[in-house]
Amino acid sequence: MQTPDSLRQTFPAMDQVPPEHRLALPVVQDGYLVGGAIRRWDGPFDEVVSPVWEPGPDGTPRPRVIGRTPSLGEAEAREVLAAATKAWDLGRGAWPTMPVAERIRHVEDFVLRMIERRTEVVRLLMWEIGKSLADATKEFDRTVEYVRDTLDALKELDRAGSRFSIEEGIVGQIRRAPLGVVLCMGPFNYPLNETFTTLIPALVMGNPVVFKPPRLGVLLHAPLLRAFAESFPPGVVGSVHGDGRTVVSPLMTSGQVDVLAFIGTSGVADLIRKQHPKPHRLRCVLGLEAKNPAVILPDADLDLAVSETVLGALSFNGQRCTALKLVFVHESVADAFTARLATAVEALKPGMPWEEGVRVTPLPEPGKAERLAAFVADAVGKGARVANPSGGVTAGSLTFPAVVAGVDASMRLFREEQFGPVVPVVTYRDLEEPVRAIVESDYGQQVSLFGRDPAELGRIVDPLVNQVCRVNLNSQCQRGPDAFPFTGRKDSAEGTLSVSDALRVFTIRTLVAAKGTPENKEILTRIVRDRRSTFLSTDFIL
Ligand code: G3H
Repeated sequence: MQTPDSLRQTFPAMDQVPPEHRLALPVVQDGYLVGGAIRRWDGPFDEVVSPVWEPGPDGTPRPRVIGRTPSLGEAEAREVLAAATKAWDLGRGAWPTMPVAERIRHVEDFVLRMIERRTEVVRLLMWEIGKSLADATKEFDRTVEYVRDTLDALKELDRAGSRFSIEEGIVGQIRRAPLGVVLCMGPFNYPLNETFTTLIPALVMGNPVVFKPPRLGVLLHAPLLRAFAESFPPGVVGSVHGDGRTVVSPLMTSGQVDVLAFIGTSGVADLIRKQHPKPHRLRCVLGLEAKNPAVILPDADLDLAVSETVLGALSFNGQRCTALKLVFVHESVADAFTARLATAVEALKPGMPWEEGVRVTPLPEPGKAERLAAFVADAVGKGARVANPSGGVTAGSLTFPAVVAGVDASMRLFREEQFGPVVPVVTYRDLEEPVRAIVESDYGQQVSLFGRDPAELGRIVDPLVNQVCRVNLNSQCQRGPDAFPFTGRKDSAEGTLSVSDALRVFTIRTLVAAKGTPENKEILTRIVRDRRSTFLSTDFIL
């Protein structure tokens, strides 16, 4: 069993960290990306506090400051935006009019430079957000793969657009064209992956991008700023850092942001969107909150249901938008399931991100342990119980996961997103109970169903596909594979992301058309043959 003392002892002094994972402190990011160069910043900075606390003089863990990042002002944000609008140049800039094959070459160049920084970025993912070495490495590699898949998907899309269609006597060529300046803001839990899964598709489609790293997970972008500066023409990528209200508001109120790609909470998304003077001109691609339920049917394979629930609810300490955040279990198997789940959770290894086999790591958000404890206290106060002995044990930024059994609709854990290591378990008698909860929920991302009877599963799938956007059978909820559409209903998302969908959301279809007279056909033929246009072209990218 874990105790505050056993957890306390896991926090290392720097010389106790294996040499390959140590950080040379402080890590200082002293620049931001504007107009194709890294501009040195000598204004105020924000401190970066690591979730990997350090032992204080009496051994009590205390927050560890690992570095600082620029806290830009409004003027700098406006300058970054001005560079992006210049690169766009009302759609006439070199980047938006560049042949696709050339834009692809810039991104390929960037990927090579990005890979050179892998070790640094992975190390900073561990130190800045407490992600385990295995998950941090996976995040980096998955992102590189996503970029490569994006380029393949774009070649495919471009090939499809490299032809003329003739309908009702009209000849036309249809392609996807960029929309303008895109503001990309990723979340702290996937600061690299979920920034790049919007940034790269937006960019390669011809949109200049301004990106703002999340509040937590800023430093890890610093090694990549140079890669951006070296790979793209001026203004095509810019970065803003610091307080969101200070640096994002001037971007939005300018009316010069054409697309907002934001992964975070719906409250913040609404605030940002509202600042645009002409909201109807702003296209939004949003990944927001979720409260994905698991439903364990009476005939479920309990071992499988337990292992998938542990993965689904507690990977990266439950800090995934796709995490299982509420488990409904049929009363006939509730005791057995809860006991096995409690045992499995109790066996998870807490520790520092680089430790072999670690499954519970420090939480990066300040005050998170208290907020999680309040969720649990609310439930326990209304009759629920913590089913695993170490559930909720906390020391510093480490909180051991709690399985909370006996949760019902009166408790906050039933409907609010905990986004952390708490697994609420609800016992149901009639399947209508979880189905009603899903229908009435503010969220609509995914659900996991555990059972064996094809007839029963088939019957339940049909109503659920109209409530959420992915029904997982005997599997945890998750975003991947990245070729699959990732989206949600209600307060969970706007727009769909996947490798191919992302190329679509940052573009609009546009075409050149002409009545198919002999003269027009001759004109089109000569434009193509003499390569007079980038858009009107039948060239293939192989
Ligand atoms: O936080 C939300 C992420 O998109 C989840 O992705 O299911 O691959 O962990 P994942």
